[in-house]
Amino acid sequence: MLSWAREDLSEMSLDEFITLLNRDLRLEYLAVVQYTQHFGMLNPGDANLRDALKDLAGDELAHALILAEQIRRLGGVPEVRTPRARTADKARALLLQDRRGEKGAVTRYRARILQAQALGLDSLAGILRAILAAEERHLQTLDGLMQGCGAD
Ligand SMILES: [Fe+2]
Ligand SMILES: [Fe+2]
Repeated sequence: MLSWAREDLSEMSLDEFITLLNRDLRLEYLAVVQYTQHFGMLNPGDANLRDALKDLAGDELAHALILAEQIRRLGGVPEVRTPRARTADKARALLLQDRRGEKGAVTRYRARILQAQALGLDSLAGILRAILAAEERHLQTLDGLMQGCGAD
């Protein structure tokens, strides 16, 4: 059985790595759905917030497309399942949910880069580094949005 928290990089097989990339892909789908739903939940007057979430949804779709292509390249079958998205009826609560997702993404992609390197997948490691940089920007964006969001 696959251990998600496996620390011994040298023993990770390509199949296990593909399984982890598919988990990342599911969470990218989740991010697309959640940002899209959260965009819809916001008041039309919250134009800056809505524009930011729309941009984030687009970035997450781009990540999903990259992962689907790379999983196939490695001989895997890209995931079709999507975890259930979270929602709320207050802007700040929505942003908190989104921030949690971004924190998780940063942690996962940091691990995935090391795992790709351990498997000798250097070009994929570079692709994952670009995704990680985007997730770190997303986290900063959400921190900024939450500061502007007060106790709403
Ligand atoms: Fe992403
Ligand atoms: Fe993100």
